[in-house]
Amino acid sequence: MTGERPGHGRLREMPTTLSRAEIRDKVAALGPWFHNLDLAGVPTAPEHFLGDYPRVKWRRFADALPADLTGRSVLDIGCNAGFHSLEMKRRGAARVLGVDFDDAYLAQARFAAEVTGLDVAFERLSVYDVASLGERFDLVLFMGVFYHLRHPLLALDLVREHVVGELMVFQSMQRGSTEIEDVGEDRSFWSTDGFDRPGWPKLHFVEHRYAGDPTNWWIPNRACVEAMLRSSGFEITAHPEAEVYLCRPAGPPAGEGAVHPARGAGA
Ligand SMILES: C[S@@+](CC[C@H](N)C(=O)[O-])C[C@H]1O[C@@H](n2cnc3c(N)ncnc32)[C@H](O)[C@@H]1O
Repeated sequence: MTGERPGHGRLREMPTTLSRAEIRDKVAALGPWFHNLDLAGVPTAPEHFLGDYPRVKWRRFADALPADLTGRSVLDIGCNAGFHSLEMKRRGAARVLGVDFDDAYLAQARFAAEVTGLDVAFERLSVYDVASLGERFDLVLFMGVFYHLRHPLLALDLVREHVVGELMVFQSMQRGSTEIEDVGEDRSFWSTDGFDRPGWPKLHFVEHRYAGDPTNWWIPNRACVEAMLRSSGFEITAHPEAEVYLCRPAGPPAGEGAVHPARGAGA
């Protein structure tokens, strides 16, 4: 670092001075890991139930994102151990900020940045507080977080209103039908037939847990993901993988938009 604010520095991938044994010990101490990272030859989650995750998924849509991010700013919301943040820095982004509300994951992400020598900043922040950043980012990654939220539309509205500059990469687990039905702009009160059709936008509520995880709250079907993105003021520009969308800000969120929290610092 050259005295610049963390995350504003230049790309500097330098081999770590830590030995393989030291990295292995630290990886074990910081575990369990959700992201399987390759830290100088040490895998962080080699037994992941989804395989080499998230690399296996990333490979399916990596080409849809700009290959050269020189001079660009990136915000990775729900960054976990920083897999995508580090990939964005490798593409030359000037500033990469990863935020997550879990200190254990942030400790993993900071260690990954240290080992890889990539200048990425990681901060503790909930998605509901993104207004406090007071900054729009050229690229916002909002992946794997939506279904963990009790208030998913609020979060999407806040992300749209406060931090997305040019492009958002959105990913959510989906369940239910992949059909899309044009439900039109309005329906008569007496028209009750559409709701059970597969292409109607649906969020499936999880009262207790899904996949043993009590932090899964709302799982959308495909129609619902696309309708909620539009409703929050996004235009879907690409759908490179079943669960992944590239979106640009279009209009403001529908209705009153995010009504809570208030509009950010000083508002
Ligand atoms: C399934 S992981 C996804 C990680 C990564 N974005 C990816 O796509 O691989 C979900 C992450 O979201 C974080 N998270 C959940 N709720 C959050 C919230 N309200 N604010 C910030 N991060 C949150 C969790 O701590 C976890 O690291």
